[in-house]
Amino acid sequence: MHFIWIVFLLQLVALRANAAVITENGLPILWDQAPGQLSVLAQGNSVITINPWNYLQRMSLYRILVDSTNQYMASMGPEATESPLWGLPLQLGWKLRSGRLIDPTGATKCGYEEDPMCISANSWWACVNIYISVIPFLAAVDEAVIGDGLIQFQVQAPAESAEGYCLSLLSCSTEHPLLMTKWKEFFQTLKNVSTSEISDLEKRDQILGAYWAGQQQSLHTASSSCQAKMSSYSSPEVSFANNWIKSADYVAATYFQSSINNSVLFLSPLPSRVLKEWDSPPNIADLSTEENHALYMFDWMNRTDRFLMGSLLKMWRSAMCSDKSREKGRELLNDLVINPKFAASTFFSILKEMIQSC
Ligand SMILES: *[C@@H]1O[C@H](CO)[C@@H](O)[C@H](O)[C@H]1NC(C)=O
Ligand SMILES: *[C@@H]1O[C@H](CO)[C@@H](O)[C@H](O)[C@H]1NC(C)=O
Ligand SMILES: *[C@@H]1O[C@H](CO)[C@@H](O)[C@H](O)[C@H]1NC(C)=O
Repeated sequence: MHFIWIVFLLQLVALRANAAVITENGLPILWDQAPGQLSVLAQGNSVITINPWNYLQRMSLYRILVDSTNQYMASMGPEATESPLWGLPLQLGWKLRSGRLIDPTGATKCGYEEDPMCISANSWWACVNIYISVIPFLAAVDEAVIGDGLIQFQVQAPAESAEGYCLSLLSCSTEHPLLMTKWKEFFQTLKNVSTSEISDLEKRDQILGAYWAGQQQSLHTASSSCQAKMSSYSSPEVSFANNWIKSADYVAATYFQSSINNSVLFLSPLPSRVLKEWDSPPNIADLSTEENHALYMFDWMNRTDRFLMGSLLKMWRSAMCSDKSREKGRELLNDLVINPKFAASTFFSILKEMIQSC
């Protein structure tokens, strides 16, 4: 078992070596051009229509979300870049840059050169992303973290087909009650924790725990809701997409603090274009060593987890059993990321201690 751990971690470490650019001036792609105020989105009256099928508008949801929650994030650290919500817009930027928001069916020009800000409702990646952009946004509105509790939001249906997407707070709550509950709990936790007397470590643990519970429920819902859209992709891309969803379980177990810096390190080795049928990682000529390596690692994780009949994830989770061990887990990931030479033996003594103290 220990051998597997070592291999897994060395794989993780090796990824960090060389980073692709997924930020602009240290912020998510086109962040500065996305409207940062509700008033810009408002088209007159008390009902605001948002169009998540336009990249800048979807990014705008994130800007408003990050800005509105900053006041509750003091426990994350002194910098405004340390909120875990940054992981979401950075991810959207990677999806744009890697061509994952275009219409994979080719039926429309959405997302192509002619219409670069268009997000296609036929894209599996764009579909999954709805559950980690529009959904948390609407939950934040419901908890009055965004707006005054009176403004109403209507989500614009995609041009292609509205089928399968909920378009308002009411319809999303009806269609996905558990999902909305998880995200509402996250925003309640933010508010409750910010006024409580507990330590910053405990605050971080509670906020991040609620955040990852929301994310995991989102990915769970998205996996089934967006499933049909996978048929437009090559089998290597489908495999990567499935593994990518699964990898969130590992990251979630540590209550990973997806600040700007931390997210960049984890996102930059992801493949910079959609994979094609003949792509065979780790030997894809036009992708970097790091991207090939990341794909290889995802695949390795899948094979190992199946070989161990699902226990790799169980082991990982069992080491992350308390707020203290998760804090250590996060530090461990950071050490590994920032200092690839961080000795495997040091890592092991810490991990052993963590499992024993559970
Ligand atoms: C937040 O606090 C309110 C009021 O005390 C309570 O009703 C609610 O259950 C709490 N929510 C969470 C997620 O802690
Ligand atoms: C893992 O590999 C199997 C067999 O290659 C494949 O069918 C399955 O989709 C993969 N799992 C994920 C999550 O990609
Ligand atoms: C993030 O990384 C940049 C560049 O390496 C560094 O200057 C900055 O201090 C880091 N921010 C935090 C909050 O650690």
